[in-house]
Amino acid sequence: MYQPHAERRNRLLSIMGDGVALLSTAPEAVRNADSHYPYRADSYFLYLTGFIEPEAVLLLDGRSGKSVLFCRAKNPAMEIWDGFRHGPDGAREAFGFDEAYPLDEMAERIPDLLADSNQLWWPLGHDEAFDRRVNRWLDSVRQRSRSGARAPAHYGDLRALLDEMRMVKDEAEIALLRRAGDISAVGHIKAMQAVRPGMFEYEVEAEILRAFIRRGARYPAYESIVAGGANACTLHYAANNARLNDGELLLIDAGCELEGYAGDITRTFPVGGRFSAAQRDVYQVVLAAELAGIAAVRPGALWNAPGEAALKVLAQGMLDLGLLSGSVDGVIESGSYRQFYMHGIGHMIGLDVHDVGQRKLHGQWRGYQPGMCTTVEPGLYIRPAPGVPEAFHNIGIRIEDDVLVTADGNEVYTAAVPKQIDEIEALMRGD
Ligand code: GLY
Ligand code: MN
Ligand code: MN
Repeated sequence: MYQPHAERRNRLLSIMGDGVALLSTAPEAVRNADSHYPYRADSYFLYLTGFIEPEAVLLLDGRSGKSVLFCRAKNPAMEIWDGFRHGPDGAREAFGFDEAYPLDEMAERIPDLLADSNQLWWPLGHDEAFDRRVNRWLDSVRQRSRSGARAPAHYGDLRALLDEMRMVKDEAEIALLRRAGDISAVGHIKAMQAVRPGMFEYEVEAEILRAFIRRGARYPAYESIVAGGANACTLHYAANNARLNDGELLLIDAGCELEGYAGDITRTFPVGGRFSAAQRDVYQVVLAAELAGIAAVRPGALWNAPGEAALKVLAQGMLDLGLLSGSVDGVIESGSYRQFYMHGIGHMIGLDVHDVGQRKLHGQWRGYQPGMCTTVEPGLYIRPAPGVPEAFHNIGIRIEDDVLVTADGNEVYTAAVPKQIDEIEALMRGD
């Protein structure tokens, strides 16, 4: 049977050679008093284990090839309050670890497992509390030096290895990303169908979250942006509490998280169901830029190719609309386009909505490989300013899709949400 987490652990073990790796899941976060924020396991930990209980620690031993989990012990009294815990035996069985022990055995066992290893890998500086624990375990090995135990002489950042692995998604990850994309797409379609002039932004947000939760995606992957009219010109607008007016556009940037994997879609559409002429003109520029960006995502192309392709289209559009004057090259060289387009073209997506991985190596852009995933999300945000034609004031438009690099091109796995003007208007009319 294909066990993706065990397969990833084995892949990491083979990269690590005879080193030992330590990884903790995320700490719980107090919201206030004894209430916590919804618990979310650490992404690296999820990647290697699939185990979602708090407080767990994973040790991988490159010498024996073993995966060892430390987790909460079974505790029938606590489980009455907080629910099921796997306990070490259950976790070992269910998640395929070689060994598993309760947390209170870490202080004894981890120094033993670290002793005489040449190299320790852990995500240095990722979690200060965990750094302190690692230091204590290392001290404990050093204290045994009289009995011949030696602490590792070399330390490495485990993230450097895991980021590289996470940059290219495996089959199980691609399946989850597609499902997260599908559910996110349903949220956007429901929002387009539900919106009416006079509604509040949060009512539309409720439609989106309802679509996510009903399909098993209990949480959004990031705070949903539901921005009517001028609010769309605030890039990270999160208030979502304004009334939606006929004649204005609504920008929605929302995606669900499914089993840890993020969707991230943006669509912009008219509150009243029909684009005005000015809105249409700006929209067509952003859409053309997005399509040009997506067309540049293919194996072998460099990571900056979509951004450059989209920027050329946006710059030409800004000139055609009369937002800027000069030439495409001039606008790009001077950076004057940033008045209306001030963010990047996109980001990797995976377990983190802004996923890990180096797009450049030694200062050089890297090439796309099959299995990499990126967003493409150009926009134009036109705040009133001297010289800006009034017809475009307060129009904010972004279009964002999630794109998988395939062997011969790409797959836009969030394409189910309409983005052509006539398709959007038809969906909103209920055709
Ligand atoms: N929603 C966050 C982003 O688009 O990057
Ligand atoms: Mn987004
Ligand atoms: Mn994004």
